[in-house]
Amino acid sequence: MSIEKQPSSPCKTWDKQTIVVHDCHDERHYGAVTMPLYQNSLFTFPCHEEFYEALDSPLHYHLYSRGNNPSVNELERRLALLEGGEAARCFASGMAAISASIMSAVKAGDHVICVESVYGPTRQFLSSYLLRFGIETTFVNGECMASIEAAVRPNTTLLFLESPTSMTIRLQDLRACGELAQRIGATTIIDNTWATPIHQNPLALGIDLVVHSLTKYVGGHSDIMGGVIIGSKERLERIGQEEFLLFGGIMTPQTACLAMRGLRTLPLRMERLGQNGLQVAAYLEQLPFVKRVNHPGLPSYPQYELAQRQMSGCGSLFSFEAELPVEQLQAWADRLEFFRIGVSWGGYESLVQVVRPQTAEENEPFVLVRLYVGLEDPNLLIGDMSRSFQALDL
Ligand SMILES: Cc1ncc(COP(=O)(O)O)c(C=O)c1O
Repeated sequence: MSIEKQPSSPCKTWDKQTIVVHDCHDERHYGAVTMPLYQNSLFTFPCHEEFYEALDSPLHYHLYSRGNNPSVNELERRLALLEGGEAARCFASGMAAISASIMSAVKAGDHVICVESVYGPTRQFLSSYLLRFGIETTFVNGECMASIEAAVRPNTTLLFLESPTSMTIRLQDLRACGELAQRIGATTIIDNTWATPIHQNPLALGIDLVVHSLTKYVGGHSDIMGGVIIGSKERLERIGQEEFLLFGGIMTPQTACLAMRGLRTLPLRMERLGQNGLQVAAYLEQLPFVKRVNHPGLPSYPQYELAQRQMSGCGSLFSFEAELPVEQLQAWADRLEFFRIGVSWGGYESLVQVVRPQTAEENEPFVLVRLYVGLEDPNLLIGDMSRSFQALDL
């Protein structure tokens, strides 16, 4: 059966909460309350006429799971609706989605503009891997439209954004970036992982493609890896034929079921995480040795107005800059009882990392600490931080 003819569960007119929780009844599933896992690599056909039809159009039929799988398609449909996009394709990780989306927008000899504090591996992909195809990238201060405009070259074909960024939590003006890209005929891609489809929908602001690491908030339980690209049918059809089918970095059906389970509670978790994060950020802001808290939900944040304009809320990943020796902050973080030391974020558990200075000689005036506030009681988290500061006489 063509995938377009499948009974589609979610509906455009529903609010986000309903899109993630409501399933239409589908006769093939015997009334099962959740969609069963389709753990299969291939699909078979009653006759060769139907088989040949599917072979000619693998992205539109259930032929082989490196094209379509009902468990993955179900997740893709919901993510597309949540972002306000026409289509979506899921990948094995956020980086698989990011590299595929970039490859879909460049050819040898092109020029890319990207924000300087973009996620590290995205930066590495642009600044070193793409060089082998003669594709150069200029990294710019994304807070300043003038520096983005100044980087434009005649061969600029891609503007890669990440707003907010995941370490320094800096924003770009998405509407202005979309307008600029349209004027120069470039594609815009945004990594929207920080805000999630619940708090920011860049397609509505004129951005062409949205990518997410589903490993973070959508998975929500620190137990899966995944990524997605969302955009127009036309762009996703091209990505489907090329980077999706040919690179083959697809999401497995089992992962899609777990991501779908995470998605059911995404709006609720984002609401609670947003409150928890803001409470902890406000506590840190009043400490004398904290120079700045990078949280777009704080009225003191320099890009607060922009955040209010283009996001409907905040997640709970943020950072702060402290005027203390790095060793002292590491000792503070090591003593924390409820924050675990590690990369990533978006699960239920609170995390901390003191960002390592780039070089041994580097003598920064402040140290950056990244926090991910989880679903624990925020008063307990604040008490934990405060006790650890006191233990170090701070
Ligand atoms: C902002 C951001 N984008 C993309 C990624 C990559 O996602 P994944 O680890 O799922 O490949 C990460 C991972 O930490 C991230 O923080």
